[in-house]
Amino acid sequence: MLRTPLCDLLGIEVPILQAGMGVYRGLVTTPALVAAVSNAGGLGCLGGAGLLPEELRAAIRAVRALTARPFGVDLIIPTQLSAREGSRAAIRADIQARHPQHWEFAQSLFGRFGLPSGEIDLDLTWTEELTHAQARVVLEERVPVFVIALGDPGGFMPACRAAGVKVAGLVGSLGNLRRQLKAGVDFVIAQGGEAGGHTGTVGTMPLVPQVVDAAGDVPVVAAGGIADGRGVAAGLMLGAQGAWCGTAFLAAAEAQLHPVHLAQVLQGRSEEFAVSRIYTGKPARTFRNEMHKLWSAAGLEPLGMPHQKVLMEDFLHVARREGRLDLVSNPCGQAAGMLHEVRSAKMIVADMVAGAEAALRRGAAMTGGRSAA
Ligand SMILES: Cc1cc2nc3c(=O)[nH]c(=O)nc-3n(C[C@H](O)[C@H](O)[C@H](O)COP(=O)(O)O)c2cc1C
Repeated sequence: MLRTPLCDLLGIEVPILQAGMGVYRGLVTTPALVAAVSNAGGLGCLGGAGLLPEELRAAIRAVRALTARPFGVDLIIPTQLSAREGSRAAIRADIQARHPQHWEFAQSLFGRFGLPSGEIDLDLTWTEELTHAQARVVLEERVPVFVIALGDPGGFMPACRAAGVKVAGLVGSLGNLRRQLKAGVDFVIAQGGEAGGHTGTVGTMPLVPQVVDAAGDVPVVAAGGIADGRGVAAGLMLGAQGAWCGTAFLAAAEAQLHPVHLAQVLQGRSEEFAVSRIYTGKPARTFRNEMHKLWSAAGLEPLGMPHQKVLMEDFLHVARREGRLDLVSNPCGQAAGMLHEVRSAKMIVADMVAGAEAALRRGAAMTGGRSAA
């Protein structure tokens, strides 16, 4: 069996972690997906970033109804925010007053694509107020594993310890790692730039060994571009104790990706998934569509978070509602080039485990070790 010390730390059977993916209304990491991965022996993880606190609580309870095994919740808790509190309406007004060119760019999109102008009916804006309310739900519900992205887990550690919640920090660079180690996280996820969603510039291959060397006794999980057993085995060879995979699970039967976005994932080539700051102000890898081109051509500096997100979300909401999913952000990594079919989460995990075991055997045989049989 493919087993590492991380499995003992988390109480799982195999070191395959399904990444938290906090997209619109939690449609990707559904409770069914999270529970299926955990029931398959890995660690399923809810992406909580796109859910209001009470929606997150309901999703956590829905996972618990489907599995008795450990699972996680991932939240984006940015340290650098352009607004710590305030409603979406207040942020909209601030953009209009202080960044009129940006406002004009976003408003021009409605006419350009022949869509009626409108506003998103959601007051979720990634202010500190919201992310801390989400974190409180994770603690109150005593979720086994709490993954914190973009932020500093330090402030949450005492409460997590008291609630018996294990904490992981997602890092894309060594600078970020130091903050996580100082906070005392239980394990670190080193995410290379190939990844889908928010991502850095250092690739998985150079990032993981550097993080492993710097992390000392703290276990490291490899992420970014891992979508089959060969990638899992490669991560282990780089010194990681497991793999955190997002893109691979976008094509899971339990994920509710819109058919237009699913087709982009299954048919897209790796190079069609590109980094842009249009959607949130932070670099994020998504399917390269018309919006990437328009944003580049506009030559505007992205606003901070959550301002840039608020700037874009009204148009994206209308585009989604009117069926123009080709214009809506589809976060996905370069590993999409490896995906060609929808499988159950159970099958994805099983294939990764079998593939990793076979790759490790092949490697040993190729270098004169034991037989590949
Ligand atoms: C659709 C999508 C949404 C994501 N949302 C989040 C998120 O809300 N929080 C987060 O920490 N990472 C998010 N990520 C990044 C994943 O957690 C993970 O690190 C990444 O998918 C790993 O690389 P891979 O896509 O190559 O497997 C997202 C990734 C994708 C593809």
